[in-house]
Amino acid sequence: MQTPPKLFIPGPVTVRPEILDAMNQPMIGHRTPEFSALYQEVVAGVQTVLQTENRVYLSTSSATGLMEAAVRNTVKNRCLNLVCGAFSLRWHHITDACGFKSDAVGIEWGDAINPEHVEMALDEADYDVVTIVHNETSTGVMNPLKGITEVIRDNSDALILVDTVSSMSGVNIPVDDWGIDIALASVQKAWGLPPGFAVMSISDRALERSKDQPNKGYYFDFEVFEKYHQRGQTPSTPSLPHMYGLQRQLDRIGDEGLLNRFDRHKSMAARTREWALNHGFDIFAEEPYQSHTLTCIENTLDVDIAELSSQLLERGFRISNGYGPLKGKTFRIAHMADTQPDDLEELLGQLDEILA
Ligand SMILES: Cc1ncc(COP(=O)(O)O)c(C=O)c1O
Repeated sequence: MQTPPKLFIPGPVTVRPEILDAMNQPMIGHRTPEFSALYQEVVAGVQTVLQTENRVYLSTSSATGLMEAAVRNTVKNRCLNLVCGAFSLRWHHITDACGFKSDAVGIEWGDAINPEHVEMALDEADYDVVTIVHNETSTGVMNPLKGITEVIRDNSDALILVDTVSSMSGVNIPVDDWGIDIALASVQKAWGLPPGFAVMSISDRALERSKDQPNKGYYFDFEVFEKYHQRGQTPSTPSLPHMYGLQRQLDRIGDEGLLNRFDRHKSMAARTREWALNHGFDIFAEEPYQSHTLTCIENTLDVDIAELSSQLLERGFRISNGYGPLKGKTFRIAHMADTQPDDLEELLGQLDEILA
């Protein structure tokens, strides 16, 4: 087999061999004490990363499943979807597809959600849920989550649902301090695992809301999750390899130190922006809301991005073109999970050579 390219795309990311090794362990029964020990260790580790006392559920699905679960378990009358790119728009489509009334407050792609706009939007109707994407992977915007959650808490009783898919574990998200009811993410991004698994923190308020919610199905019913959570189990057979991988990754995160991990992401983002600006490109996301885990570079030099990517691929590296309508107009370099500053320099060096 050819050596696979090093991935600098915003998920899936390159997975370290030691994580892959940890995933390759003998199976255990998922209704056994050994399993509950593993479950509790992983849950506690995720709680530490999120600095939360809220329960954490483990889901054998991608994050989109949990986005759907979150609205099905919580929306009663009307949901406000804050939209600033493709993934926040996806949450609006999901809310709609689940049959709930919802309003999308849209802003220009590349801009961040402004807490003052959220305050105005909250005045328009009686919302029982607000959805937010913390780190818009399509535009490279990292929204000012603290300010947004503060405004929602101060002006309504709406539950706050946050997609932290491309930021969780790479950026500081103190769930309890910021009053986040649901924070969800899949593990193929900043967590640095293969795809197929997702995690979610849930507040008491959100669990309570789920209790008399009709038509929420079974697989993603929070009450069913909670029943098994109390036993240290998942409702159905989970992806055990992912749980082993996450257990190992949580140890590694502990060894690196959370703050060091967050700083590493922040400084790789700064370095990528500096590189782009030095070449005469622009950064697509407005300042100072530029993501720490990926950089969306505006193609102001009108480079042929498909050609750039294919030359890069021949050298063993993969980056991402712009998302959807941004294809050709932007390209994205992810710097998350276990990517180290030296890996990034290696990529930027290759890009320098190709662009020269
Ligand atoms: C911000 C964001 N939300 C949601 C998703 C969907 O995640 P998944 O593919 O795990 O369902 C993605 C995937 O790229 C994402 O970047």
